[in-house]
Amino acid sequence: MSSTGQPLDTNCMTLTRYVLAEQRKVPGATGDLTQLLNSLQSAIKAVSSAVRKAGIAKLFGIAGETNVQGEEVKKLDVLSNELFINLLRSSFTTCLLVSEENEAVIEVETDRQGKYVVCFDPLDGSSNIDCLVSIGSIFAIYKKSHDCTPSVADALQPGNKLVAAGYALYGSATMMVLSTGQGVNGFMLDPAIGEFVLTDPNMRIPSRGKIYSINEGYAHLWEPAVAEYVASKKDPAKGKIYGARYVGSMVADVHRTLKYGGIFMYPATKDAPKGKLRLLYECNPMAYIITQAGGLASNGKIPTLDIVPDSIHQRAPIFLGSKDDVQDVLDIIKKHSV
Ligand code: AHM
Ligand code: MG
Repeated sequence: MSSTGQPLDTNCMTLTRYVLAEQRKVPGATGDLTQLLNSLQSAIKAVSSAVRKAGIAKLFGIAGETNVQGEEVKKLDVLSNELFINLLRSSFTTCLLVSEENEAVIEVETDRQGKYVVCFDPLDGSSNIDCLVSIGSIFAIYKKSHDCTPSVADALQPGNKLVAAGYALYGSATMMVLSTGQGVNGFMLDPAIGEFVLTDPNMRIPSRGKIYSINEGYAHLWEPAVAEYVASKKDPAKGKIYGARYVGSMVADVHRTLKYGGIFMYPATKDAPKGKLRLLYECNPMAYIITQAGGLASNGKIPTLDIVPDSIHQRAPIFLGSKDDVQDVLDIIKKHSV
């Protein structure tokens, strides 16, 4: 028995063990991805710990204040970014990093360079930090396609070239959801042992859900197709009524969509013709996870993973979730465009 009274699983599948076992299946694998994912895991554990004690340690929106030791207290998003950068840089597996928090790409020092490019949003859902609503981290991993010095072009690969992607959700528990291209697995952080443990093997998204998720405050700015689709989900004459859920943290909204089914949308609006969410470290990794789980992700015209990026912080509209639900909205968009 553990100190919590729960029987201990003496053969539990930790994330580290899982990734190592996957690596062993690939002939000639160097172990670099395993090493990278271990560093990422460490960063995420540290962010999770900081999120949990943010209130006590005064890590909320108060950059520049000092703590009791007289040290400067960093804002949670700044701290998360530094953790991601430092741990990925020192993993000896990456050459280029793209962070939502940094205007330019971060090139890893030559003597620490490896073959992977990582794009990440270290702490997504900024509007939810101070009110203790779920937030998350998102990451996307590519391989550099040549032996030359890494350049921005290495980060501008379409999502269909991803080697791995996933997210961490700092919710009522901390969960890491990961795909390395062979389906999706979910690992819950067990604080008693400080390890992510496989709790959701082979996650599949239901083919249809009963929840739609969109910021309806912007309804007056939507394209007619989006307005027609959302109206149809509230009209009993058009079929089954859907429930509305919108956390405002992409990780939480996508995780719910993955678990329960339904659709998450952040469309283009009159004010933001490219939508709000960023392609490289928000749309692509989430599209990869949802697609790997049997769902669909599109910008309204083409699959999100087929978009060829032209700049590292570019935005894209997104419709993702259950196959049938996303297909419904795509059909309406198509009907409006002819
Ligand atoms: P952020 O990177 O500043 O946190 O913004 C991204 C977040 C997403 O998590 C979420 O889906 C979206 O912004 C919510 O935006 P809005 O408040 O416009 O609905
Ligand atoms: Mg973000």
